[in-house]
Amino acid sequence: MAYNTLIVEIEDHVALIRLNRPDALNALNTELLGELAKALRSAEENEKVRCIILTGSEKAFAAGADIKEMSEKTFVEVFSSDLFGPEVERLLNCRKPIIAAVSGYALGGGCEIAMMCDFIIASETAKFGQPEINLGVVAGIGGTQRLTRFVGKSKAMDMHLTGRFMDAEEAERSGLVSRVVPTKKLMEEAMGAAQKIAEKSVLTSMAVKEAVNRSYETTLREGLLFERRLFHAMFATEDQTEGMGAFLEKREPQFRDK
Ligand code: HXC
Repeated sequence: MAYNTLIVEIEDHVALIRLNRPDALNALNTELLGELAKALRSAEENEKVRCIILTGSEKAFAAGADIKEMSEKTFVEVFSSDLFGPEVERLLNCRKPIIAAVSGYALGGGCEIAMMCDFIIASETAKFGQPEINLGVVAGIGGTQRLTRFVGKSKAMDMHLTGRFMDAEEAERSGLVSRVVPTKKLMEEAMGAAQKIAEKSVLTSMAVKEAVNRSYETTLREGLLFERRLFHAMFATEDQTEGMGAFLEKREPQFRDK
């Protein structure tokens, strides 16, 4: 499928989705978000794809929602169209693992989209921020909720109230990103992680996603029970027999997503 605002490649079971509006630092306009939703659906439906990487350019993952486009909208328009709602739901509903590979600016909606991915690998130049306050608005696709869960209330308040940016080192220290790598190594590192994931059973990856995400949405007791039941359910799969059998036979497992 051809896109105007994305470049999508599929390589070794990994769908690489690159945000591509270089003139606007990958600002998220309606077209880009619509195309992103389509690209994710298509990656999810493609049986060859076992992991997804979402990335931008070296200068910007995404500098936020497109301010030019947003500035012309009225309350009635954004409310009645549920601005950004359906596209965000698509990202959240994606059951295959998504890695955000972030270089440069990840601001506002850009930071929020990175946080919606399953984990973030950042280059040394990455800068995260929720500067919506400078525009007279608040974050709109999860920034106040997710950033707070990642980095705690004090730092989240600091970021949202002052609009300051957090560099990669601070982001790693605060738990926002899982790894920081030199800029030139970002895609190699993300691809390496994606390929590791692609070697596993897709069924198990989906179960891991559901269980970890559940920890944000329920009590510890309910989450533990959910996890235990999922663990039990995995014994109904051929991939459990294969995984454990391969270990005992001292060979690499061949998962078949069954
Ligand atoms: C539209 C944007 C943009 C944005 C940058 N550009 N960010 N266009 N929306 N969010 C455009 C600029 O207008 C400029 O276009 C070009 O990209 C390069 O940007 P510069 O500002 O010249 O680059 P630089 O001086 O390097 O500064 C980079 C920057 C700055 C610090 C990232 O661009 C910036 O502060 N951008 C806005 C960041 C922001 O406030 N994000 C939150 C948006 S609100 P021209 O044509 O002039 O060359 C949001 C709400 C989320 O995200 C709600 C739900 C999605």
